[in-house]
Amino acid sequence: MVDKKGIAVLASGRGSDLQSILDAVSSGLIATGEVRIVVSDRPDAPALDRGRRHGAEAVHVAPVAKAEGGRAQNERDVMAAIDAAGGVDLVVLAGYMRLLSPLFVDAYHDRLINIHPALLPAFKGVDGPGDALRYGVKVAGCTTHFVDHEMDAGPVILQGAVLVHPDDDRDALAARILALEHQILPRTVDLFLQDRLTRDGRLVRVADGDTWHGRVDPVPEALYPYGF
Ligand code: GRF
Repeated sequence: MVDKKGIAVLASGRGSDLQSILDAVSSGLIATGEVRIVVSDRPDAPALDRGRRHGAEAVHVAPVAKAEGGRAQNERDVMAAIDAAGGVDLVVLAGYMRLLSPLFVDAYHDRLINIHPALLPAFKGVDGPGDALRYGVKVAGCTTHFVDHEMDAGPVILQGAVLVHPDDDRDALAARILALEHQILPRTVDLFLQDRLTRDGRLVRVADGDTWHGRVDPVPEALYPYGF
């Protein structure tokens, strides 16, 4: 494999967002990169198995007690694991449930992205779909963004929207949003690896090029962004 760019994915749980990236690499939708390493803060995270099955390195990096350096040491451990994997151009937070300090964020400035299950800047935090439903919005969705010092606040890359159905409960809405995440996230990775994303302050411009329309089955009723 010549000159493929390297991706590191940080994930805490089931890893379906990670899987969407692995699948896009396997199918050739992402043609210019490969997942080199998956890092999890939980030893039993299914995400680690998904990474291993794909042939990526899969590393558990345990949280560190305060007396032994706490969050800063944990982040240095994660960075060391990424460095050891080698050739990582992009770091993706895919359901990574730890807040990252400026130490980490600055180390990967402009090459650290996150997926959030809400239309930011609304419904930041741990339960985007539930918060959106309780608020009573009629349209919900997901957002990929570059990571800045503030949580869920960096420049938006792509967003996808779905309708909120009158009979939705939290899990039904979250599942519909997740189906869209599984297209918006790998496409964001693809655009990054194709060097098609340019930051202009808060605005992220997507340069013209290929499209995934016609290459993936659209999520029913979903609204896709320019650039997809
Ligand atoms: C996704 O909804 C993601 O947006 C959120 O956490 C969830 C991760 O799901 N931050 P999975 O572990 O990738 O299946």
